[in-house]
Amino acid sequence: MTHNGFMRNLFPFEIDEVPQSSVEVAVVGSGVAGLQAALHLANEYAVRVYTKSKARDSNTWLAQGGIAAALGEGDSPEEHLMDTLRAGAGLCERSAVKCLVEEGPEVVEEIISSSNAFNRENGQLSLGREGGHGRNRVAHARGDATGREIESILLRKARNHARITLEQDLPLVDILSEDKILKGLVFLREGQPEVVRARGVVIATGGLGQIYRETTNHSVVTGDGMAAALRAGLTLRDLEFVQFHPTVLYFAGAPRFLLTEALRGEGAKIRDLNGQQFLGKIHPDAELAPRDVVSRGILKRMIQNDSPYVFLDVTHMSRAALQERFPTVTETCGRYGLEISSEYIPIRPCAHYSMGGVRASISGESELTNLFFLGEVASTGVHGANRLASNSLLEGLVAGSRVGRVVCERRLPELQSLRSSVEGRGQQKSEEIDFVDLRKSLQSLLWRNVGIIRTKEKLSYARDEIKRWLELAAGTTFRSREAVETVNMLQLGRCLVETALKREESRGAHYRSDFPEPDPGKPRHSLVSLVADSGELIVDWEARGE
Ligand code: SIN
Repeated sequence: MTHNGFMRNLFPFEIDEVPQSSVEVAVVGSGVAGLQAALHLANEYAVRVYTKSKARDSNTWLAQGGIAAALGEGDSPEEHLMDTLRAGAGLCERSAVKCLVEEGPEVVEEIISSSNAFNRENGQLSLGREGGHGRNRVAHARGDATGREIESILLRKARNHARITLEQDLPLVDILSEDKILKGLVFLREGQPEVVRARGVVIATGGLGQIYRETTNHSVVTGDGMAAALRAGLTLRDLEFVQFHPTVLYFAGAPRFLLTEALRGEGAKIRDLNGQQFLGKIHPDAELAPRDVVSRGILKRMIQNDSPYVFLDVTHMSRAALQERFPTVTETCGRYGLEISSEYIPIRPCAHYSMGGVRASISGESELTNLFFLGEVASTGVHGANRLASNSLLEGLVAGSRVGRVVCERRLPELQSLRSSVEGRGQQKSEEIDFVDLRKSLQSLLWRNVGIIRTKEKLSYARDEIKRWLELAAGTTFRSREAVETVNMLQLGRCLVETALKREESRGAHYRSDFPEPDPGKPRHSLVSLVADSGELIVDWEARGE
């Protein structure tokens, strides 16, 4: 039986037959949230950080846009809170946002003090402006390589820490729990399951951007933590809210390279194929309107002009200024033959950030005691229906230090023993399927039907296709990282479609052209969870305050 393509564990096995190890605290993911958590947890516990690829392979490493905090003169956490709530379109949890903006300045100061690479002017930290922020509030490092700088600082500290070890190239498969008690994790090593027992587990595996054909996300971002949580019986929340970044390089043969919003903060314009600006007619903030508004405006103009892209125009800046302030952008575009101080850059919107994820508190606490979810994998309520620019690196730092405090204040239980077998799928068919092809089909299907502008018709079509593909994938043998990732992506694709169908309104990043207005009732979070025995999905609304 294939359980509709959903099953409790991807691999059934006998405990005695698989390799086992144990750690005090396991952290999965080596981006900003995972590393910050590891550093804080190591005050009390021995921590092992697991990552499925190399430690630097993460969205954090790619983040050009900076880190927002109320550090400027005249700014306040209260103003940052108000901007975050406004962007979140009624679905932010005020208490979580309050933690974010109030604890933000301290964690950002701390990271800035470990580096001399943050942008300064006359000795003062320079703060840039990005869409949705009422003030200049965004700190950047090395021009436009903030994520790379933060990742390097944290990774260096983690590598030098006596209580932190790092294990690379080990993909997560499942979370092990019995009778609602956390036991550990299952990883995939050379095609076989391997069990790690742990007293506490932090999952910081990032979002699910790779389920879309057009995405800014690193190739490792395949929703592994979210899918493992779903299979372990945890609830996913607000999955339909995916932020599409408006300005991504679109050039044959080039990667979907993000062109930071800070460019627009410094006056860059968006023009159609005829060189006309058009966003001013859509929103008073034009280029600096919320990302969903800009992305939809661009998509509509692309359709109207029957063109696969529009242009970003940064020609008001000199070559020298661009090289100094945006070295990564200038260099990357240059590699594809574009001299951006004199030529327009072809761009289009791409999937960028998942506001939804595993339901968790701002400190990462989930429905399973001693299992924590941090950063993009989690839905903590800080981003609501649409994330404010440059709040995500901040969330990683704040949540990572909070989980450290929470776990160090409580005593983690001793290691738990395990039952003899882990149940999973039943009989598998022997024929192999081409998971690479299946993944590409899923990515295209979601991009075309579950993208920036959605309708019931397109969503229903996508649901039917994914249901078939899931049955196919789950009924066969898969023992490779590609196969595990593809099954994860299929399961999350199905959940995302279900919640997008359920939400018959437009709000934040979720836009339904058949329901173009927000529902006038109280905003609600969507929830999706799995009935373990049947593989049935339950899609529901969360009662606010629950
Ligand atoms: C950007 O630089 O535009 C991306 C920053 C973010 O997504 O917060």
